[in-house]
Amino acid sequence: MLTLRHSALRAGHVFQPTLRARPVSTSWQTPQNPLKKGLYATAFVISAGLFAVYYFDSRSAIHRYIITPTLRYALDPEASHRLAVRVLASGLGPRDTQVDDERLKLELWGTQMSNPVGLAAGFDKNGEAVDGLLDLGFSWVEIGSITPKPQPGNPRPRVFHLPEDGALINRYGFPSDGHASVLLRLRARISPFQPENVDVPTSLRPGSVLAVNLGKNKTSPVDSITDFVSGVETFGPYADVLVINVSSPNTPGLRGLQTRSALTDLLNGVNAARKKVASASHATRLPKLVVKIAPDLSEPELLDIASVIKESEVDGVIVSNTTVSRPSSLVNSNKGEQGGLSGKPLKPYTLAALRVLRPQIPASIPLIGCGGISTGADALEYAKAGASLVQIYTSFGYDGAGACRRIKDELNDLLAKEGTTWQEVVNSAVNELSRKPVPPPIPVKAEELSDVQVLINEAKELGKLLDQLSERSGSGNTMGVPTPL
Ligand SMILES: Cc1cc2nc3c(=O)[nH]c(=O)nc-3n(C[C@H](O)[C@H](O)[C@H](O)COP(=O)(O)O)c2cc1C
Ligand SMILES: *[C@@H]1O[C@H](CO)[C@@H](O)[C@H](O)[C@H]1NC(C)=O
Ligand SMILES: *[C@@H]1O[C@H](CO)[C@@H](O)[C@H](O)[C@H]1NC(C)=O
Ligand SMILES: *[C@@H]1O[C@H](CO)[C@@H](O)[C@H](O)[C@H]1NC(C)=O
Repeated sequence: MLTLRHSALRAGHVFQPTLRARPVSTSWQTPQNPLKKGLYATAFVISAGLFAVYYFDSRSAIHRYIITPTLRYALDPEASHRLAVRVLASGLGPRDTQVDDERLKLELWGTQMSNPVGLAAGFDKNGEAVDGLLDLGFSWVEIGSITPKPQPGNPRPRVFHLPEDGALINRYGFPSDGHASVLLRLRARISPFQPENVDVPTSLRPGSVLAVNLGKNKTSPVDSITDFVSGVETFGPYADVLVINVSSPNTPGLRGLQTRSALTDLLNGVNAARKKVASASHATRLPKLVVKIAPDLSEPELLDIASVIKESEVDGVIVSNTTVSRPSSLVNSNKGEQGGLSGKPLKPYTLAALRVLRPQIPASIPLIGCGGISTGADALEYAKAGASLVQIYTSFGYDGAGACRRIKDELNDLLAKEGTTWQEVVNSAVNELSRKPVPPPIPVKAEELSDVQVLINEAKELGKLLDQLSERSGSGNTMGVPTPL
């Protein structure tokens, strides 16, 4: 954007001499008062130039205090979202011009990431603004969810602001342009990978990754894996990370998917497709496979997921999606709307899920924290709960283009104050939490419980019988255990 900013100013310089040289030739300038008009024009150019300087710096407060709130109040939530995507897609969006501090660096899957702040799925559903978003300083940009077929999603309105709560409720229902359109868009910015450039991330920027979040057709059976498999086949060569959702809470169908065997089948199917894609592209590059879970899972469900993840080839877990619960703290009248709640009120739920999951998952598998992060302190809290990286969505919606930079700056200050680095905080949290893993209680279902009870009862009966038998036979003990003399 540096070039853009300069060209905007340069345009101003060129404009003024032209004005003076041929004042009469321009129709909008009356010969009677050329000086005054010229001044106006100059003032306009200068203020536009200043505006441009502020606008193009994602760090400037203009985004947090002026542009984003104005957008929010002037337009309905979905329209302001669409406008933001369009501006970022146009290449005219602001830019984080700052170099990330050394303290923020981390290693993820053996690659250096420049900072730990990512953008969560759902903002750029169709991969229109990948570069504009990377320009804002995110180290992880996740597009999607993308469904195989184009689908419109739920009827509007389907996004609701709860500003007093720092929250959103959405029931978008996964509107998507579909695989084919999004694939064309990604292909336009990147050509299929050749063996010689396997080291370049598909984000095309060292230190950042592009993740693709895969969805399902609305009409697909809940436990069918074909949509995810086709997503892997379609986007595997264009993504550093593929994200699949095992998240929908409180949907009867989902409960089915989240039972161990169904989840195992899903992960095995997706993994087979992933490897096929990697070998077909003659590249050693294998996109990482990450699952995203809901914050509404019970502890036994989380332990189930952990045990499947340990046995499958999953590279990471995003904790978490939106919640269907409605904490009593909510004040905005939109709190009654149906859908997933995101933002500040989600944070305790997500942190709780993270704290259950972290000790159950091998330290080598990173967890990615997502839910209600809006400050550097929030991000640090996640690191201390064992998250290697964080993602934001709602706070980005509220604060605008500068949210990522601000969180990074705040985080950097906190880390400096504690005399540590992000990586150190994560490492010690993960080591601490993985040291004494609590053995996962084996969840026992009601019917299994009764089976076990039957066995115990039968064993007791048998024991009694044997005792009686041994008393009668006078041997004293039937089990071969030496009798004390
Ligand atoms: C409007 C909106 C749309 C979303 N769409 C998706 C989506 O398509 N796929 C997905 O996995 N998550 C989606 N999410 C969930 C976010 O990725 C994220 O997990 C959640 O909002 C929690 O983070 P936050 O509190 O920082 O917003 C959406 C969230 C919002 C608010
Ligand atoms: C996520 O999974 C659940 C359960 O399979 C499903 O209902 C929901 O539509 C999925 N989301 C997407 C984007 O496919
Ligand atoms: C989803 O849509 C795609 C594209 O039409 C189709 O090939 C696929 O079979 C559908 N998936 C399911 C599970 O119906
Ligand atoms: C996330 O959660 C919402 C409800 O909280 C649900 O509708 C959706 O299917 C879940 N999955 C994804 C990928 O967003």
